Amino acid sequence: MDMKQRPRRNRRTQAIRDLCQESRISERGLIWPTFLLEAPNANESIASMPGQRRMGIDTLSGEIEKLLPLGLRGVCVFACVDDTKKDSRGSFALDDDHFYLSGLRKLKQRFGENLVVMTDLALDPYSSDGHDGLVQNGEVVNDETVNLLSQMAVLQADTGADWIGPSDMMDGRVGAVRGALDKAGYTNTAIISYSAKYASAFYGPFREALDSAPRSGDKKTYQMNPANRAEALREVLLDIDEGADIVMVKPALSYLDVIRDLSQATTVPLAAYNVSGEYSMIKAAAEKGWIDEGAAAKETVLSLFRAGAQIILSYWTPFLLKSTESLVLESGA
Ligand code: PBG
Repeated sequence: MDMKQRPRRNRRTQAIRDLCQESRISERGLIWPTFLLEAPNANESIASMPGQRRMGIDTLSGEIEKLLPLGLRGVCVFACVDDTKKDSRGSFALDDDHFYLSGLRKLKQRFGENLVVMTDLALDPYSSDGHDGLVQNGEVVNDETVNLLSQMAVLQADTGADWIGPSDMMDGRVGAVRGALDKAGYTNTAIISYSAKYASAFYGPFREALDSAPRSGDKKTYQMNPANRAEALREVLLDIDEGADIVMVKPALSYLDVIRDLSQATTVPLAAYNVSGEYSMIKAAAEKGWIDEGAAAKETVLSLFRAGAQIILSYWTPFLLKSTESLVLESGA
């Protein structure tokens, strides 16, 4: 055949493919989401998320210690609160040195600037209603929730945590949290906002991990409609205007178009959360022998970088850091 352009020439050998590769998984952009239990040495498996664990602070610190030399840059920490401590106001969240806060403090004391510690800011781990905000007469009330979140954010910032992560989707929370942090003197504490967080079916395994599923109703009055793309831009622009340092799309895989749009429309770093359901689906298929887990995990995370995210929250972070295939993973040196 007479052809000037033969795209396959750029795919002929592994070395050529490496040189021509457009996007790379970089450990410099990975954050590991983790689940913190109160007992310092706790270490429990999570049925819905094989390979992930609920850990006490000492166990978690030990894991981090092993991952730092492999290039770990950050963790996001979620609180697993005992049911007996939950109430309708999520009061335990404002207990001023409960295990979540003391755990964050220990991480910063031990790892300092070598590890970015990101918090989770929402009421669901503490609320007997399992909602991200305060429920009154069957409704998740916005402004009172924002008031509570602002107080929680100051407590979290006081631990030395680097990034506060509001995951609640209340209106005006980024501005209120920024105001509260500044007023308390935490002007260097950043906000990584879950700006475009969709009401998704892919959070199921996480809710089982935290036992935090809504006791009634769903989250559709605050989390976004999966059908909407323009609204993601609206939310992101509002959050930036209110002071967000980093914005996020969540989940990731069904929202690659949104990641792409936002990466072109904003000038702050963009994060994507490769959520529990996206992780567990591949795990389950791999357990059945239907899919190559490692290859599928890498393809997933690579696709998020390709779509335009700079920061990826992924449960595969430890696996990717341990991966010996340096052809795919950039070295940390
Ligand atoms: C709630 C929260 C959720 C996740 C992170 N924060 C679940 C929800 O909104 O119900 C999900 C993360 C995951 O599925 O991996 N504040």
